[in-house]
Amino acid sequence: MKLLLKAVTIASTIVATPVLAQTWTLAPEGSHLAYGSIKKNTVGEVNSFSKLSGQVSQDGKAEIEIDLSSVETNIDIRNQRMIEYVFRKAGTASLTAQFDMSEVSALSVGEATTVDAEAQLSLAGAEVGFDAEMFVARLSETSVMVSTNDMIFISTEDAGVDAGVDKLMQLADLPGITRTVPVTARFIFNLDDKKVEAAPVAETTVLAAAVEGDVKAGKKVFRKCSACHKLDADRHTVGPSLHGIFGAKAGQADGFRYSDPLQQSEIVWTPETMAAFLTDPKGTVPGNKMQFPGLKKEADIANVIAYLQAETQG
Ligand code: HEC
Repeated sequence: MKLLLKAVTIASTIVATPVLAQTWTLAPEGSHLAYGSIKKNTVGEVNSFSKLSGQVSQDGKAEIEIDLSSVETNIDIRNQRMIEYVFRKAGTASLTAQFDMSEVSALSVGEATTVDAEAQLSLAGAEVGFDAEMFVARLSETSVMVSTNDMIFISTEDAGVDAGVDKLMQLADLPGITRTVPVTARFIFNLDDKKVEAAPVAETTVLAAAVEGDVKAGKKVFRKCSACHKLDADRHTVGPSLHGIFGAKAGQADGFRYSDPLQQSEIVWTPETMAAFLTDPKGTVPGNKMQFPGLKKEADIANVIAYLQAETQG
């Protein structure tokens, strides 16, 4: 039994990884990065950048490039002065942050959450680190919106642009420009549609699960599933019938309306792929519509798989 559980666990990590091997790419339309400036203590203005690009890799590392020449202050001469004196013609600035992707993948369409990100801005040779609380909303199966939850303040001194701001004051004959800059951002990321081949069926483990998992105990565990799944052929209720499920490709039973992510997942159901799915349904196939949080106990997973094998393959 111990050995089997180990095999299932190792297999599930291997299987879970390729399914999550996805990058999110920043969609420039809909994304927006703005900062505020306050002159003479009273006049507030919003500047923004119109050209952004970037992506978030599968381990949650976000890298965003800001084209500094795309700064929009609403006055041409001021745009040029910003580029020349404040950004010192640096071309691009980069913003990097680390996210916990499991929190993001766990979101269903329409759900939102806040996550803490450790971010770093690198601008013309200066590096500024800051903590940012970000609001993340899953807009669809393949897109998320990430925005600042509050505004972020960046000191002009830390960002190494104090001398440039002095120069702007002098050029525009201003008595003062505030030295801390509020920043807000909204980024839209789309999932790249890279399909991954499912792992080949490991027959030895199929056999091991059939022998080692406890069918009787599995029948009890299956009570958690039976509200939505029947085992008779073609009997679909809230969920699809699980008749003949092992060896079948995910999302293919006739007459059941699956979600696109499950249907397109390319998973082939084996004890391993099912163990991965039942451990973390939402993380394994982001955006699928099975409203079930998963099974926490390895024994429950091995047993329910053994029960399904005994009941559905005959
Ligand atoms: C609240 C209802 C619900 C519960 C409880 C539930 N499921 Fe599901 N399940 C679904 C739905 C709905 C789908 C289809 C998901 C989709 O299309 O995205 C599904 C899909 C599946 C699939 C993929 C089927 C296929 O044809 O590819 C498997 C396997 C599965 N469930 C197993 C289980 C097991 C085992 C349990 C219990 C441990 C369980 N489910 C609990 C609703 C449920």
